[in-house]
Amino acid sequence: MPEMRILLLFNTVSFEEKAQDFTLGECASDATVGAVYDALALTGSEVIPLNLFSPEQLEETVSAHHFDAAFVIAEGFLELPHTLYDGSGAMLIREILNKRGIPSTHSSPEAMSLCRNKDSTYHMLSAFDVNVPSFAVIRDTDPKSLAQKVAELEETVPYPLFVKPVGGGSSICIDRHSVVNDRKELTERIRMVQAVLGSQPVLVETYLPGREYTIGVLGNGEKFVLPVIAFAPDAGVRSAVDKGAFSHVNTPVEFIPDNDPLALSLMSIAEKTFDILGVRDIIRIDVKEDAQGVCHVIDVNGTPSLAPTASIIKMAAVMGIGYQEVVALILYAALTREKMELPPRLAEIVAEPLAKLRAIRTGMVA
Ligand SMILES: Nc1ncnc2c1ncn2[C@@H]1O[C@H](COP(=O)(O)OP(=O)(O)O)[C@@H](O)[C@H]1O
Ligand SMILES: [Mg+2]
Repeated sequence: MPEMRILLLFNTVSFEEKAQDFTLGECASDATVGAVYDALALTGSEVIPLNLFSPEQLEETVSAHHFDAAFVIAEGFLELPHTLYDGSGAMLIREILNKRGIPSTHSSPEAMSLCRNKDSTYHMLSAFDVNVPSFAVIRDTDPKSLAQKVAELEETVPYPLFVKPVGGGSSICIDRHSVVNDRKELTERIRMVQAVLGSQPVLVETYLPGREYTIGVLGNGEKFVLPVIAFAPDAGVRSAVDKGAFSHVNTPVEFIPDNDPLALSLMSIAEKTFDILGVRDIIRIDVKEDAQGVCHVIDVNGTPSLAPTASIIKMAAVMGIGYQEVVALILYAALTREKMELPPRLAEIVAEPLAKLRAIRTGMVA
């Protein structure tokens, strides 16, 4: 008898479809879905995979079958492509599951929505004194003309600026041309993002030219900040191509030693961000330095990639924690949070990585 029935929710499309339509950038590859499936199956559970197309499909599935929990890496619904990048999908999926009383991994619907709307993330973090870029939001519903909005924005946020979708994810509509130096470039770039993503609001923020870091946090009540990754100093803007959306890319990364004051400061930013946003189970925070080397949070990922070459997996690997253990730890975090009885195989699998995390990571951040 399997120990649990776990619904695995994901979005995947063929490689060709993804290459033709980069708004599908948030879809996981078959290899990633397969790896997560295998890791969950190892916990002794029956895993029911579902490529998510529509809210109706999810409603029908959860009303027709019993599930103990859902492991959700889906970002939205394939038949409603905007839900994959406008910040609504990850929230809606969890609302449907909540209504049915099915506990799910990762953050709550509200926290997911907060992370998937970068302007909301920035407002919240800056209210608690976490550095974020200065920014303005351009909405096509605004009755003011684009020229007028651009002129107003120039008064508050100086060039060079960085243009990105408020929702986004997987660097949709982000490449080196996202950096703009004057009114003409800014206006053209805003128009380009609007043309691709429709009514999606556009964020215009301070361009941060310094080094980029990414930090993972795993757990909820008991949580662990993972080792800090630094991207190459000359990495520049991390586009979808750099992140491996269209072909296999295994970006070389450097780890900042835990005792380096920079690592301590980044881990403290990550932990503070985690608490302020009320997220849970797993997140990854992207940070970039300004010209003076001051760190700013630029992105909080509620569903960080679980591709075998993803940053989160690399962070765990340097601690001797393997892929299957990471997936098991995320499920463990969700089940303990829900005060559910742990399947014995899952408890066995997480025992050693948990001991490592407790020994090495607990209390690292003052
Ligand atoms: N304000 C900024 N200044 C410089 N580069 C930025 C800025 N914001 C984002 N980037 C670059 O663009 C990449 C993608 O942006 P990010 O906000 O993380 O969006 P996504 O949700 O698509 O990952 C980042 O990894 C970084 O390289
Ligand atoms: Mg990012």
